[in-house]
Amino acid sequence: MISRTTDLEDDHASRRVRRFLTLGIDVAGLKCVVVGGGRVGTRKAIRLIEHGANVVVCSPQISPSLLRAAQERRLAWERRPYGPALLRGVRFVVAATDDKALNLRIARDAERRGIPFCLASDRSRSRVIFPATCGIEDLAIAVHTNGRSPKRATEVRNLISRLLCRLPQQGSDLRVLARSSESAGTDKGKVYIVGAGPGAADLITVRGLRAIRSADVVIFDRILGRDFAEQLGIDPHRREVEWLGAGRMAPGRQAEINGRILEAAAAGKVVARVKNGDPFVFGRGAEEIDFLAEHGITFEVIPGISSVSGALTAAGYALTSREHGRSFAVTSAQLAGGRFNEHYPKADSLVVLMVVGVLDRVVGRLVADGWSPETPAVIIERGTQDGEKEVVGCLRDIARLAKHHNIESPAVLALGVVAARKLTSPRSARRRVTRACAGEVNLSRS
Ligand SMILES: C[S@@+](CC[C@H](N)C(=O)[O-])C[C@H]1O[C@@H](n2cnc3c(N)ncnc32)[C@H](O)[C@@H]1O
Repeated sequence: MISRTTDLEDDHASRRVRRFLTLGIDVAGLKCVVVGGGRVGTRKAIRLIEHGANVVVCSPQISPSLLRAAQERRLAWERRPYGPALLRGVRFVVAATDDKALNLRIARDAERRGIPFCLASDRSRSRVIFPATCGIEDLAIAVHTNGRSPKRATEVRNLISRLLCRLPQQGSDLRVLARSSESAGTDKGKVYIVGAGPGAADLITVRGLRAIRSADVVIFDRILGRDFAEQLGIDPHRREVEWLGAGRMAPGRQAEINGRILEAAAAGKVVARVKNGDPFVFGRGAEEIDFLAEHGITFEVIPGISSVSGALTAAGYALTSREHGRSFAVTSAQLAGGRFNEHYPKADSLVVLMVVGVLDRVVGRLVADGWSPETPAVIIERGTQDGEKEVVGCLRDIARLAKHHNIESPAVLALGVVAARKLTSPRSARRRVTRACAGEVNLSRS
């Protein structure tokens, strides 16, 4: 990288053709600044984050995806206008504001300091461009046109990506991950975000099933399993069917899923992204939608029966009743990045998702919050599915019982009024039920 103080505009105007050297750069741990939090800035920042860069986004406002990344501490947000002091210690800068003059000023400041920069409003004047990429496993393909026609680069990338899709699959993890960096494609398809319900195939909505049947590509949450697709009559030979993610995922996994959805939609395909329960109940549906909106992809959300009510209702537990249960609250025991949730809302009944593995801690927290140890509690594993299990007790002993009965994920914990009474017909007792708390139960909290 040569540092110069000549005027960028004159310098670049004299060059008719710029030949970019196509390099692979390890950005892990490097401080990279993206100025601008709109659509382009978001795309660049997310790509840098995915590759392990230490990203700072400078902008008074940022997109919902960037805001979420900031809240999850995956990037630092400088909520202020650009100033050259921002470039201290920086190794790469992206100027992606919607003000061309400001972008040029940022590029000049970077050039003077010897910092490579990408000028989003005029790629041919950039020191660095982001090629359109795709790849399989450790194979990476980068396409660019020396900054002159990002649309063409995207089209060629899409073509290559489709060819790669046809390579024989060597394992469930083998798939194409394609992502546009220079611009989104023009022949965009549509994405249905479909709620599948708690797991029994016949609890999906008619609308959801219709969307799946109309899709070229169906991407199921891994939690839904292969039986689920079979029971819906989805033939994997007639369309592309994949199982990706759900629940706690390794860092970067969601970005991978987003990339896969975008790749298919950008290639003009109809995609059904089928998610466990309801997409908007602890389902990252909002994240997928923000991402699609930022890439200009049309989408439709189809609600599903959440496991919150689905698992409990199907097992005979009423979340509300006119006499006692006038409110219920729902939360998750695990937050973004696997952090433990320390805050539990108050209500007549409380439902806690993603509880397996941290049940002891949840119980400890709830008792410390004033829930009586005698509060009725029930855990339902695989609600509505084959192999459903139900363990009934009270707050004091539910963790021990769950361990004893090998409760595994996915399972919901419900406590309070909801767990005090099971409403089933005598002939429908098909589940394994263990009732442990004998005697009178105390519904009150101190
Ligand atoms: C990431 S959350 C997704 C919730 C989903 N969007 C919903 O509305 O049900 C995954 C958690 O949902 C719960 N869950 C999902 N399906 C379940 C089922 N069939 N039975 C019990 N719990 C379930 C578990 O607590 C699991 O850890």
